[in-house]
Amino acid sequence: MGEPVSTDVRIGVVGAGAMGAAHVETLHRWVPGAQVVAVYDLDLDRAEAVAGSVGAFAASSAESLIQDDAIEAVLVAAPDPLHEELALACLAAGKPTLLEKPLSTSVEGARRVVDAEVAVGRRLLQLGFMRRFDPAYVALRSAVLAGEVGRPRAVHCVHRNVQAHPSATSDGVLVNSAIHEFDCVPWLVGDRVDAVTVFAPRVDGDALQDVQVIVLEMAGGSVVTVEVSVNARYGYDIHTEVVGTEGTVSLSPPYGLSSRRDALDGRRVGADFVARFADAYRIELAAWVDGIRSGSPATPSAWDGYLATEIAFAAIESLHTRARVEVPRYDVPALYG
Ligand SMILES: NC(=O)c1ccc[n+]([C@@H]2O[C@H](COP(=O)([O-])OP(=O)(O)OC[C@H]3O[C@@H](n4cnc5c(N)ncnc54)[C@H](O)[C@@H]3O)[C@@H](O)[C@H]2O)c1
Repeated sequence: MGEPVSTDVRIGVVGAGAMGAAHVETLHRWVPGAQVVAVYDLDLDRAEAVAGSVGAFAASSAESLIQDDAIEAVLVAAPDPLHEELALACLAAGKPTLLEKPLSTSVEGARRVVDAEVAVGRRLLQLGFMRRFDPAYVALRSAVLAGEVGRPRAVHCVHRNVQAHPSATSDGVLVNSAIHEFDCVPWLVGDRVDAVTVFAPRVDGDALQDVQVIVLEMAGGSVVTVEVSVNARYGYDIHTEVVGTEGTVSLSPPYGLSSRRDALDGRRVGADFVARFADAYRIELAAWVDGIRSGSPATPSAWDGYLATEIAFAAIESLHTRARVEVPRYDVPALYG
């Protein structure tokens, strides 16, 4: 008898920082049928440590990893400015890819990635909008779409990160953080964003404009408020409430613990996105690997990534001009129909 044939999907990971390392561990511990075989990071010591933790090897470059015939699929968790070129390289190599958000750091770049995938003629990219797999968000969406609170009139979102990433910018608050809301809200209420207005504090010089408040006008007439902060300090905190004609429905923080000490009675707040969305990442990566194995790619797609990028850049224009900015409408390419 010969060697048993492994049917695991052999995965290479590019970028092994907070998100990449967490994805490597999740794939290794929680996703049947997935095998991380290679890791590349610009910081080679980091790549070696993360690769070594799961019995993978540290690749010498992103290009060599993407071109390696022994690697069937790629997960990209490198910094945002690299997403476009890495996505294009993965498409050129015909490799199914889980690409962390955002799709690109420009609208034109996002469009180039969509056009490249359309030219390939096959859905290869899945975007890392993990909220679509979060059990609480899935339940919230089901309730809204089933009409449990009547017709949606308003959505209120709060998105607070503990501490700004060293690369954070005022525009990045929108294209890196708020982009989760730009993808999630249309999915949640089954509607499209027509226009965006951003309100941000006036600051001295290049100081970060944090906290920002975003108002989205939906095509169906409802209004969305998003408060986004990258320096909330006290914890990682995500809220969403949908107000309908018959009532409201909102997320309750999952797995919450209450503490009483030092004359305080309080609910604990999670430390970071890895803890808050642990289940979402597991389900997201399992759906990605299932999609590769079955040949039917999971959503969110590159087109979803493109739409969110369009909203983010309309928001950036509003941040700079203090004006209300309309979001362009596009016909969905047949590949994503
Ligand atoms: N979906 C989510 O919930 C979520 C959460 C956090 C971050 N992200 C995304 O994940 C990506 C990584 O974010 P992070 O928080 O892990 O950042 P991070 O700074 O912790 O990690 C980035 C890693 O990329 C490496 N790197 C830098 N240049 C590189 C290059 N040329 N090639 C390969 N690796 C390179 C760095 O050495 C570092 O290890 C970002 O695109 C971010 O938007 C997504």
